[in-house]
Amino acid sequence: MSKGPDDLVRRLAAGMRAAELYSPQHPLVQRSVQALSVAIAAHLGDAATLVVGFIGDDVVVNDTRLGKGSASLTGFIRGLRDREVEKITFHRGVTAEEIQSFLTEMAVKRTRSPLADRLAGKGVRRIVIGKLSAEDPQQDQIGIEAARKVYSNAVSSAETLWEQAKAGDKPDPETARKIIDSLANIVNGDRTSLMALTALKKYDNYTFTHMVNVAALSMAQARALNLEGPLLREFGFAALMHDIGKVNTPLEVLNKPGKLDAEEFRVMKQHVVDGAHILRRTPEMPALAPIVAFEHHLKQDLSGYPEKIGHRKLNLCTMIVSIADVFDALRSNRPYREGLATSRIRAIMSEKDNPAFNGVLLRRFVNLMGLFPIGTIVRLNTDEVGVVTAEHPEDPFRPQVKILFDRRGDKIDAPTLANTWERDSRGAFPRAVIESVDPDSMELDPLTVL
Ligand SMILES: [Fe+2]
Ligand SMILES: [Fe+2]
Repeated sequence: MSKGPDDLVRRLAAGMRAAELYSPQHPLVQRSVQALSVAIAAHLGDAATLVVGFIGDDVVVNDTRLGKGSASLTGFIRGLRDREVEKITFHRGVTAEEIQSFLTEMAVKRTRSPLADRLAGKGVRRIVIGKLSAEDPQQDQIGIEAARKVYSNAVSSAETLWEQAKAGDKPDPETARKIIDSLANIVNGDRTSLMALTALKKYDNYTFTHMVNVAALSMAQARALNLEGPLLREFGFAALMHDIGKVNTPLEVLNKPGKLDAEEFRVMKQHVVDGAHILRRTPEMPALAPIVAFEHHLKQDLSGYPEKIGHRKLNLCTMIVSIADVFDALRSNRPYREGLATSRIRAIMSEKDNPAFNGVLLRRFVNLMGLFPIGTIVRLNTDEVGVVTAEHPEDPFRPQVKILFDRRGDKIDAPTLANTWERDSRGAFPRAVIESVDPDSMELDPLTVL
């Protein structure tokens, strides 16, 4: 059975505790050293280094963030913080002797010489302690900063694709592939950071941010439908390129502040046909891309445009992309209006009998985005029902919820608060918001339960 990173961290904590309590020769210490050696070797595998970092109350092993753990782990993290250790790097070939010396030196409290010097003095070369700094590439592999970098790279690559198509060349599939690969990594690893980034409105480069946002929002939807691997990437490609036909649309039409007149609208509509042409003559693009470019302004009842296309069934990818497309367009700042708040967008998009979107996919999208303003009655994956009491500033998609009904539907006398952004000791989220619930159906007044 393969052991996860939390096993490694537990062994590290146990080793440090043993070294604090007993002499280095004590069997308990010896056993801890052996167990820790095995765990480190297993985690290192063929890699040159294994990094255990401590950020606030979180432990990070390479780029996996573990949640707040048991009380013993909390003490362990505090101990490291007292010693000003934010990061421990194990290098390949680290020996049991080095681990033993490391644990022994860590256990020494209140000395004048810095820990790093003492480790060096003991000949420990393959365990390096240090601080996490903003420039630290290891830290950049996780969290919102990494997502920010990926995002801005993606936006400038999208600009390259756009300029190529505008010049009449084929958009370089390799450039597109790099964007999709980097987005796929984040969509798989840290969806929240990416989704949060796509919500930033400070980017004024609408054409290119729109390409990347629609790709990211579509891939996140597809991932939540359990699509992965090559198909997930194809969805990403198609989403990224959905508006590429607009390279032929005159700027005065593209950026016109007011309503388009009939002739301008005719010109604008042309982008779906042009896009399909451009993508069809780029053979390395997945076949899905021209289909989605052609279909993305068609509604469920085939109203919209292109007109008179006969009977057809919209591609799943088209339905996903059109949700991401409209959402991003409404949320972005445009020359003629400010981006709308998510709650307002949700109201617009889920207007009753709106034929623009597939109802099931739209509901899933709303859930995925976690658009739950304070006061929303929500059902959790645990079947508990509660009211959103606060948003989590670092993770707008995982609110704080006051639990009002238990999983059997019984009203709770003393409601408790659940922070749905908190992970359990395994790094999983024990609670997640599944959907919002009509307060009337629960006979609840959200304001009185807040
Ligand atoms: Fe479009
Ligand atoms: Fe679009």
